[in-house]
Amino acid sequence: MTNAPTASTPFARRRQHILSWMRSLGGGIAILPTGPEISRNRDNHYSFRYDSDFFYLTGFTEANAWLVLIAGETDQSILFCEPKDPLMETWTGKRWGPAAAAEQFGFDQAFPTSELDTQIPARMAGLKILFTNTARSRTPQYLTQLHAWLEKTQTTLRGARATPTQWVDIGEPLSEMRLIKDAGEQDTMRRAATISALGHTRAMRTAQAGLHEFELEAELLYVFRKHGAQSVAYDSIVAAGVNACTLHHRAGNTVMRDGDLVLIDAGCELDGYASDITRTFPANGRFSAAQRALYEIVLAAQRAATACVSPSHHWNAAHEAAVRVLTQGLLDEKLLTGSLDKNIETDAFRRFYMHRTGHWLGLDVHDVGDYRTPPAGAGERSWRNLMPGMVLTIEPGLYITPSPDVPEIFWNIGIRIEDDAIVTPTGCELMTRGVPVEIREIEHLMHHKD
Ligand code: GLY
Ligand code: MN
Ligand code: MN
Repeated sequence: MTNAPTASTPFARRRQHILSWMRSLGGGIAILPTGPEISRNRDNHYSFRYDSDFFYLTGFTEANAWLVLIAGETDQSILFCEPKDPLMETWTGKRWGPAAAAEQFGFDQAFPTSELDTQIPARMAGLKILFTNTARSRTPQYLTQLHAWLEKTQTTLRGARATPTQWVDIGEPLSEMRLIKDAGEQDTMRRAATISALGHTRAMRTAQAGLHEFELEAELLYVFRKHGAQSVAYDSIVAAGVNACTLHHRAGNTVMRDGDLVLIDAGCELDGYASDITRTFPANGRFSAAQRALYEIVLAAQRAATACVSPSHHWNAAHEAAVRVLTQGLLDEKLLTGSLDKNIETDAFRRFYMHRTGHWLGLDVHDVGDYRTPPAGAGERSWRNLMPGMVLTIEPGLYITPSPDVPEIFWNIGIRIEDDAIVTPTGCELMTRGVPVEIREIEHLMHHKD
């Protein structure tokens, strides 16, 4: 049991918004699960993480709960959750139970999950549309369950009243809502970003040749938990030397050697919201000339991309700007040959820069939301314009694996620089600059460890 949201909640407003959307399509019933506990091994579960859509609409963090929204004669918002059970709660902690949950979280009604099989068929009857979250809750159990409830509605009613005949996915309106972060969400994301920046700073300060990747992961985790973050937003990437060229290398037992660069891509999750920072620094505290040259290219690419994160740009402008700077840098360092435009046109740069320059960030680290506008016609959909309240990462990189046609001084260098940005009316706010990014700042931090 965690703290309940207080009086006027954004969660109730979000439910109301979805109910109005359901009504605009003719009304119906929406059935959204969070998730079950998942077994890790005998008598032991993975740490439970609620479903992001479910949390966005409820604020309720217990496992095995369902949200049911009904746009029928009236609007109703109903929670199904685990019942009070003093014996079980002795083992697993306090539960809200339906009565207290309804009151605290502002549901019209709440029932124990044992009543799902009777309540849902009874409430489906006479409604036109079954609203589902099948695009995201794509588990066989969810689909089987929905079919079973429909079936039961049909057999129980024997045709007396219609059952929903249309299925409509609720994912798109939910994604559009989640894409624009309200003031409360922005505040949480700033706090998550600040904690993650503290973690990176501590790891950078601790780093030295001879330590293992996992020892820096430990520093990150210490800071995240010390400041109240419930979890990591994703498994921490700590990559020494050539490991940095594996984009999602998990922190392992590789030893950082004198002369290696170390790439850390890590972020905490605070109150449901992700942060996502990458920094790259030399294990010995001093960039070599080759490392410095490539690092400055990536940093310049990030600056160029950041200048394109504003409401006067579309989503892909930042990526296009980063690609131009990175490709010009690769030409300057003779890692590519030919013209700038040709290398971009033919995707030649992708040998050294194979990912995109960012993604939406929110309740999920790769958050929901379309990157393009809805189709205007038969043609390709265009990139959507950025809007205030959108949150995204800006994360260019370069990755150079050993190859005979690449000067050896560049081998095994993987660099990524990643910050989190909120789009503002005039540009963007970088939330994650509590951790150094300029070469001189990084070298200064690593040489003045206290
Ligand atoms: N940490 C995963 C990413 O940067 O997208
Ligand atoms: Mn990212
Ligand atoms: Mn990342």
